[in-house]
Amino acid sequence: MSDMDAGAELRNVAIESLTRDQAAAELQALAQEIAEHDRRYHQEDAPTISDADYDALRRRNNAIEARFPDLVLADGPSAQVGAAPASGFGKIAHAVPMLSLDNAFDDEDVQDFVGRVRRFLKFDPLMGALALTAEPKIDGLSLSLRYERGKLVHAATRGDGTTGENVTANARTIKDIPEQLTGDVPDEVEVRGEVYMAHKDFQALNARMEANGGKVFANPRNAAAGSLRQLKSEITASRPLRFFAYAWGEMSALPKDTQSEMVQCFADWGFQINPLMKRCETVEELLEVYHGIEESRAQLDYDIDGVVYKVDRLDLQERLGFVSRSPRWAIAHKFPAEQAYTVLNDIEIQVGRTGALTPVAKLEPITVGGVVVSNATLHNEDYIKGIGQDGEPIRGGKDLRVGDTVKIQRAGDVIPQIVDIDLDKRPAEAQPFEFPTVCPACGSHAVREENEKTGRIDAIRRCTGGLICPAQATEKLKHFVSRNAFDIEGFGDKQVDAFYQDGLVMAPADIFTLEERDKRALTKLRNREGWGAVSAKNLFEAINARRDIDLNRFIFALGIRHVGEGNAKLLARAYGSWGAFSNAMVAAHDEAGEAWTDLNDIDGIGHIVADALVEFFAEAHNRDQLDALLEQVIPREAEKIDASGSPVAGKTVVFTGSLERMTRDEAKAMAERFGAKVSGSVSRKTDLVVAGPGAGSKLKKAQDLDVEVISEDGWFDLVGS
Ligand code: IVH
Repeated sequence: MSDMDAGAELRNVAIESLTRDQAAAELQALAQEIAEHDRRYHQEDAPTISDADYDALRRRNNAIEARFPDLVLADGPSAQVGAAPASGFGKIAHAVPMLSLDNAFDDEDVQDFVGRVRRFLKFDPLMGALALTAEPKIDGLSLSLRYERGKLVHAATRGDGTTGENVTANARTIKDIPEQLTGDVPDEVEVRGEVYMAHKDFQALNARMEANGGKVFANPRNAAAGSLRQLKSEITASRPLRFFAYAWGEMSALPKDTQSEMVQCFADWGFQINPLMKRCETVEELLEVYHGIEESRAQLDYDIDGVVYKVDRLDLQERLGFVSRSPRWAIAHKFPAEQAYTVLNDIEIQVGRTGALTPVAKLEPITVGGVVVSNATLHNEDYIKGIGQDGEPIRGGKDLRVGDTVKIQRAGDVIPQIVDIDLDKRPAEAQPFEFPTVCPACGSHAVREENEKTGRIDAIRRCTGGLICPAQATEKLKHFVSRNAFDIEGFGDKQVDAFYQDGLVMAPADIFTLEERDKRALTKLRNREGWGAVSAKNLFEAINARRDIDLNRFIFALGIRHVGEGNAKLLARAYGSWGAFSNAMVAAHDEAGEAWTDLNDIDGIGHIVADALVEFFAEAHNRDQLDALLEQVIPREAEKIDASGSPVAGKTVVFTGSLERMTRDEAKAMAERFGAKVSGSVSRKTDLVVAGPGAGSKLKKAQDLDVEVISEDGWFDLVGS
C-alpha cells in the first residue's frame, strides 16, 4: 500500500485517536496529496478538488501537526505557506469594520432612503441640495489594502467584517493594486474596493481550465473569489484579476471632505476608479444615473448587480453613522431581473437520465444583463402550448412557435425563462410545434404516463427505451460521476460520451473495471488521443479513490427518480447501511408490509419517492447493475446524526445573499448537521432565512411573509459554533 493509500485509509480516524505511527503515515500522505493538488493548481491551472476540500486537507494536516509537533515534516505543507490553523490564511483584524449595504429594490425605496437621511440630519429642502454619489455595484469581492508611508503592507478580505484573511501576497500580484502609491498620501491609509474579473478574462480562464480537464467557474464572481483565495500566490498571479477602489478604512488623515473627491484622490494615488460614478443632487438625478447604468450594463465588460448611492459629504456620513452592520449614508439599488427580446430559432429535444424528453429553446444569442443567452428551458410539451402545471394558461395561453420573437428573463444565476411572445412579429408560416412521440435518441416510443394514484397524465413525455437508449445510459453515467455523486476527478461528460461510444463504459460498474481491462487490452487508454501515461494513471487513481463512498452519495449516484441529494441523505440516515437499505427497498414492494410503512414514515419521504424506490429495486436489470457495482464499490455506513437539542432541528432554512464565513455547500452541510432542512426558495413553509450582504428577492419575500430573518453571524450564534 502506498503512503497515499495508507493516509487516505486513516482519513476517517478522529485526530485524538491517531497513534504516533498513524499520524506520521498520514502526515506523509497529506504532504504528497497537497503537493499534488498544488501542482495541479499551479502548473496545470486545473484544480481537481474544490477549494473547500483542499482547505479541509490542510486543516487536517495542521491539526495533526498541532497534536504531534515533533512529527512535522521539514518540507511539509505548513512549511510552504504561513498557514493559520483555520483556513490556510492568517487573520487580519480590520481597524475599521468592513460593512455591508442595505438594499433598495425600486424607485420608492430610493425616495424613502433619501427621505430617511434628510430626516435623520434634519436637512430640510431649505438647507439646499443633499448631494449623493451614484456608482455601479461591482459583483466581485471586497478587499482592504493597508498602506504605510505609501507602501502596501497588507491586504485583507472582508471575512466576517471584523476579521478578514491575509491575502497580501496574492493582492500584490494584481496589476490594478499599486505596490507604492504616488502623490501626496497620508502616512496610514486603508483603501477598499472590489476585486473582480472581466468577462473576456473569465471566458479565457474557463476555456483554459476546461482544456486542461479541470472544472470551470460558474461566473466571474466565483472565479475572482477562487483566484484571490489561493494558497499559492503564483496561481493568483496567473489569474487576470482587477480592482476598483471605492471606499476606505483607517486613515491617519482624511485628505478630502467628500466621497467624490476621496475617490478622485484614489485615482491620483494610482488606483483604478469606476468611470461611471456621478455626483447627484436630487433623487431624480440618482434614478437617471441608475437607469443609464442599467442600460449600459450589457456593454460593460464586468458584472454589476446594482447602483450604490452614498451621501457625498463626509461630515454628514459621520453624523449618520451605522445601523447594525450597514451605513445609514449608503444604499445599494439592485437591478431587477433582466429582460430582452430575441428570436426562437429552434426547439431541440434533450433526453435525460430518466428518459424525460425536455424541450430546449435555441435562441438567437442575446445579451441579457451582461450574459449571452442562447438557450432557455421549455420544461415540457404543455409549456410550449401555453399550459401551466395545473392546466392554467401561461403567457396568456400563447403557444410557442419556431420563428417567434420571445421575451427572455434572467434573474441572477437562475436559468433564463421565456416569459412572453410578441404575436405581432409571428411569421405567417409559423406552425404549432409538434412534440415528438418517439425518442430522438433511440426511436423508442415516448409516452406520457398516467399517474395511477391521481389519474393525472404526466406533463413529461418519457422514452420507453430504458438502457437501450444511449441518451438515457450516458446521462445516467454522467450523473453517476458528477460532483455530488461519485465525483470522480477527470471523469466528466466528455469522458463518459467517449468511453460509452467506444463500448468501454456502458454501466457504472464498468468504470471500476476499466483499469483491470486496460491492462489486458491491446489499445490502452494511454495511447488514445488526448491521453497519456500520466493522465491515464491519474484517472485510474481517481477511480480507485472512490471505491469506498458515503452511503448517501452512493444512493444519490444511482439516479433513482425523485431521489435527489436531500432524499438520499434522509435514506442513508434512516437505514444506516447499504444492506439494511436495499433489503428494505426490496421488502417494501409489499405495500401491506412493515418495510413499506417504515419507508413512508421517514420524515420527508412521501409516496412518490417511496414508489420510485420500490420500482427501481423491482427492476431486474437495476438489481443486476447494482450487484456488479457492489463487487467494485463499498458504500460506507452512514453516520448517525444527533440533532437533539439543536435549535434548528426539523426547521426549513434558506440561505441567501453572499455568505462570508462559509461556502454555500458548507452552510448546507452545517444546517443538515444540526437537523435542519435547507431549501432554495422562500415560502410559507420556511422557518428561517439567513441573509448575507446583497440578499435580494428572497429576503424581500421573507419579509413579506413575516419569516424570521437573521444574519450569518446570527446563524453562528444560534447554532453555537
Ligand atoms: S461601498 C460602507 N461601493 O457591496 C459601505 N460597495 O453589500 C462599503 N460593493 O461588501 C461598501 N460595489 O463588496 C460599495 N461601489 C461600491 C460597491 C460595493 C460593490 C460590494 C462590497 C460590499 C457589498 C455591500
